[in-house]
Formats: sequence, structure tokens, C-alpha cells
Amino acid sequence: MSDPRDLLRRYLEQRRELGETEFRLDGLDVDAALAMIANAKAAPAPAPPPLRRSGASDAAPPAGSGDWRAALSGAGLGPKAAGTPPSPDAPGDAVPDPVLPAPDVPPSSRAADPPASGVPPAGDRRFAFAAPEDAGRGLPDDGLLDGLVVGQAGGTALQGDVAAANAIEDIARLVAACAACGLGATKQRDVVGEGDPNADFVVVGEAPGEQEDLSGRPFVGASGQLLTKILAAINLPREQVYICNVIKHRPPGNRNPTPAEVAACSPFLLRQLELVKPKVILAVGTFAAQTLLRTKEPIGKLRGRVHRYFGVPLVVTYHPAALLRNPSWKRPTWDDVQLARRILDRASRA
Ligand code: URA
Ligand code: URA
Repeated sequence: MSDPRDLLRRYLEQRRELGETEFRLDGLDVDAALAMIANAKAAPAPAPPPLRRSGASDAAPPAGSGDWRAALSGAGLGPKAAGTPPSPDAPGDAVPDPVLPAPDVPPSSRAADPPASGVPPAGDRRFAFAAPEDAGRGLPDDGLLDGLVVGQAGGTALQGDVAAANAIEDIARLVAACAACGLGATKQRDVVGEGDPNADFVVVGEAPGEQEDLSGRPFVGASGQLLTKILAAINLPREQVYICNVIKHRPPGNRNPTPAEVAACSPFLLRQLELVKPKVILAVGTFAAQTLLRTKEPIGKLRGRVHRYFGVPLVVTYHPAALLRNPSWKRPTWDDVQLARRILDRASRA
């Protein structure tokens, strides 16, 4: 069993038994990878019979599912990427993807893969739930950490009007009247959030931009349209998730929100999350990730693993606006959203 081909075969077979038919590292499906290994051997062992996928994991699209990649091509990213030769040491070399370029993350951070169940393997930092040394960092108040899980019956980390808000509409009324920072004075509309108020999957972005300010809806501009497609690619129709931002009023000229603005607005987000009670939170972009996790770690370090926000699993990925600018972030984003999807599937089965 010391032959690496045997090890790889065993690994792939385990993955398949867990219900995963997609080999995410290179977009190759498990059967194709096994066939390749078998061909590489002088006396190929018979491949085990394919197992049927069942249950919620059926909802995940197959590898290379065209939707989102096509969307990115449509956004002008495909042709550029198509000419990108894969780097010689990229695991994806076997099947160069015509749309996705070789990922720009170091191979070492891609080598491990979470099992299909989404349960992080012990000792795998990349997919570990926040390690003890990470656990306190990133949470608004260490004293609240123990036992507080957002959305638990009756629990709130807040006081006053916001704590008393028992529906999103209550929060919306408070946001509309809020003068805790200056942003309310320049807003056109409040952008509280939209989607299913009982969603298991919540997306948190940064702040409304121009289109959002004009429409009163989060993520409706160019990056919002890409977000909708990314969600569709993991079989989450936009209406089935809940989408909101850290900041509820547009910062003039889309400047970064100030720490005071974040502090003033954060209770609304926390109460929203308490009311929606998601099973997984996807933080898109540096700002949402660093704000929710109270860290200055770069997004490249935060993505690719599972954090906790008041007990709720939180996955970080690139902002769709960043993705439109930098096609090499497409692949890691795809990995991240599939990780979030697996956490959702696992939580839904539990
Ligand atoms: N970017 C965000 O972070 N949020 C929006 O609602 C729109 C763009
Ligand atoms: N920079 C950002 O602001 N967001 C990203 O997602 C990536 C880089």
C-alpha cells in the first residue's frame, strides 16, 4: 500500500463512498481519476462499482457545472483565462480547464480537501474549525462566546431597541430611523437585507453601493448579479438565501466604512443573524470577513476554512467585485462556496 497510486486510489474511493463524485482539485470526476490511475498501472485493479449519490448532496452541481463559469466568461473573464497555460506543478494539469486558470494559491494550501460530509479532518488547519488560539479572536466579546449561539431560543447578545426587534421588519424600522452615524443623512434608501427570513444560508457583504442605495436592495449591481450566479451554481436560488451587508446605508462614493460606522451598524447585523438563525454564513470580501471575525488577517488566509460567528459556521470568500477584477480568484471562490454548501447539506441532514 505504499505505492502512491494505491494511496490515491484509496483516497478517491473513500471520497466516493462519502457520496462525492467530484474531484474538486482538478475538476476531474472520481471515476475518471480512477480510470487514469488504473491505466497508469501495469495490471490495473478493477475499479469498484460507482456508488449513487443520495440525499442533499445531489443538489450540488457536478464538477465543471457550466453556469457560473459561463457567467464569468460572459463577464469578459473567460477568453483571458482560456489562454492561460496551466503551471507545470498545478494539480489541475491533467485536465486543464478552458475557463478557469490555474489557481494562484500555493499548491500546499490546495493539497488537502475536506471530506464530502464537510466534517473537517482532524489536524487539517485549512479546514479546521477555528483552532483554540483562533477561537477568541474574531468574536465581538469573548465573554459572550461561551454558550451563545446566534439564533438560540431567546438568546441575544444585544440590549435596547435592537434586542427587542423580533422580526426583520422591526430592524428595518430601526435602520430607517437610525442616526447613530452620519450615513443616514446621505442615503437614498435603507438597504437592510432581502431574501428568506428563515434561510439556512446567509450572505454578508460590505455596504450598499449606488444601485443598492437607489433600489433599497442588497447586491443588485454588477457584483450582485455575479453573486446571484455563484449562489445558483451551488443550487441556491437567490430567493432561498438571506442577503445583507455589515453596513445598511451607502457610504458616499462607496468609500470604506469607518470603524465608528461599523460599530454603530453592527448590532443590526447581529440581531438579523439572531432572527434568521442561519446554519452557515458566507462572508464575501475582505471587509465583511474582517469585520465579522474581528481580525486584520488577509482574506487569503481567512478563506478556505471554517470559522465561527457566535457559534454559526462562517466561510469567507472573495467579494464578487474582486472576482470580476481578478479571474485567478475564481477557483478558490468556487472551492469556498462548495465548502459552505457542504456545511449547509450536513446541517440540513443533522
Ligand atoms: N457590495 C456589497 O458588499 N454589498 C452590496 O449590497 C453591493 C455591493
Ligand atoms: N480585496 C477585496 O476587497 N475583496 C476581496 O474579496 C479580495 C480582495
